[in-house]
Order: sequence, then C-alpha cells, then structure tokens
Amino acid sequence: MIQVWSSPIRSFHILLILSILTLFLTEDFKKIHEITGLFVLFLIIFRITYGIITKNRYEKISTFFYGLSDIYKFIISILKQKEIRYLGHNPLAGIVMILMFLILIMMTISGVIGFAMKEEEGFFAFLITNNFELGKEILHIHHFLSNLLLALIGFHLIGVAVSSFLTKENLAKSIFITGLKRKNQ
Ligand code: HEM
Ligand code: HEM
Repeated sequence: MIQVWSSPIRSFHILLILSILTLFLTEDFKKIHEITGLFVLFLIIFRITYGIITKNRYEKISTFFYGLSDIYKFIISILKQKEIRYLGHNPLAGIVMILMFLILIMMTISGVIGFAMKEEEGFFAFLITNNFELGKEILHIHHFLSNLLLALIGFHLIGVAVSSFLTKENLAKSIFITGLKRKNQ
C-alpha cells in the first residue's frame, strides 16, 4: 500500500465538507455564513500552498492539471469499463477540483461584496460603497454559483462511486481515514 493522502489533506477534505454543509444551512444566519465563507477561502489558500510545498507527488498542485490526450484516454477507458488507474486525482477529478476551487473563491468574493452593497453589512462593509441594485445582482450570481457548486459536488460523488466500482477500491476509506491506496501493478 502507498500513502497517497496525508493527514493535512484528509483534514482539509473533512473541514471543506463541514464548511459547505454549514454554508448551505446558514443562509439566514449571516454572521456564521460569512465567517464560514471566509474560512473556506482560507482552506483553499492552505490547499494551494500545501500543493506547492509538499514533497508528496500525489498531492502536488500539478496533479490537478492534465493534457487533453490524458483526459481523452481516461474517458475512453471508463467507457470501456477498464479505467486507467491514478493514485492521485484522475484527469476528470482534476477538472472538477479546479472548477470547485474557482467557484468557491468566486462565492466568497460575491458573498462579501454583494452583502456589503445590498445590506451595508459584513466585515468588509466599510470598504465597499453601498449600491442596493448592484448588490442584489451580485447576490443573484452568488445564488447561481451555489447551484453550479451543487452540480459539481454531485459530479464528484458520481465520479468517486464509478471509480471505486471500476478500480475495486474503497476510495472513501482512503480519503477519510487511512490515506492509503493499493500500488499500481
Ligand atoms: C461537500 C462535499 C464534498 C466536497 C466539496 C468535496 C471536495 C473534494 C476536494 C476539493 C477534493 C480534493 C482533495 C485535495 O486534493 O485537496 C476531494 C477529494 C476526494 N473526495 Fe471529496 N468532497 C466532498 C464530499 C465527498 C464525499 C462524501 C466523498 C466520499 C463518499 C468524497 C470522496 C473523495 C475522494 C475519494 C477524494 C480523493 C480524490 C480523488 O479520488 O480524486 N468526497 N473532494
Ligand atoms: C464558499 C463560500 C460560500 C458559499 C458556498 C455560500 C453559499 C451560499 C448559499 C448556498 C446561499 C443560498 C443561495 C440561495 O438560495 O439564494 C447563500 C446565500 C447568501 N450568501 Fe453565501 N456562500 C458563501 C460565502 C458567502 C460570504 C463570505 C458571504 C458574506 C456575507 C455570503 C453572503 C450571502 C448572502 C447575503 C446570501 C443571501 C443571498 C440572497 O439574499 O439571496 N456568502 N450563500
């Protein structure tokens, strides 16, 4: 067995899930919502920094990025039900992760700015000019992004289920508990 996911990355994953659950439950509790949103931004900055400095090759930031030919070969391998096995992220997971990070960053920014403009509230309200109509539009974008995020999470869970099935490996156990994965033959 190989140690693929270290404890900082396993903790990051659990904290991210808990934060996103909290964000979807606290739309009406703006203080908690804002603090949690800012915490998510902190988590992403932590993940990117960790991905740059880590020596674990499976957790490096570069493992999120694949070329078109790798993506194509991977999709074909799934369609043939002979999934090419990756120890770190597979090419489709890489795309989902990049989109998730981008959406989460945009959500924190749109949340803070939209809230400050529309309600004149929040930690950064003193930095932002109040503009009710524009704030409302920005919060519409925030709402739209939250639907995109849900779709991506759905895609992530389907991906984990399909990969676990095709590679006959308990991927959830690896990311949540042990961090270990079977070696590639
Ligand atoms: C709100 C829900 C979730 C979000 C936002 C989320 C997000 C992420 C992110 C960002 C990563 C990349 C980890 C990294 O390299 O830093 C990841 C990896 C992973 N997640 Fe999730 N996750 C969620 C729920 C779950 C659940 C419920 C499961 C298991 C059933 C799961 C299984 C995995 C696995 C197995 C990986 C390893 C990466 C891979 O195989 O590509 N995730 N997740
Ligand atoms: C990753 C970060 C964030 C996520 C995932 C998130 C998620 C959500 C979700 C799911 C909703 C409900 C959407 C709807 O049905 O309209 C919402 C609403 C809202 N969020 Fe966030 N949020 C984040 C960050 C923030 C931050 C930092 C603020 C700043 C205060 C904020 C302010 C708001 C406001 C004001 C609303 C209500 C929008 C309305 O009036 O329609 N959000 N957010």
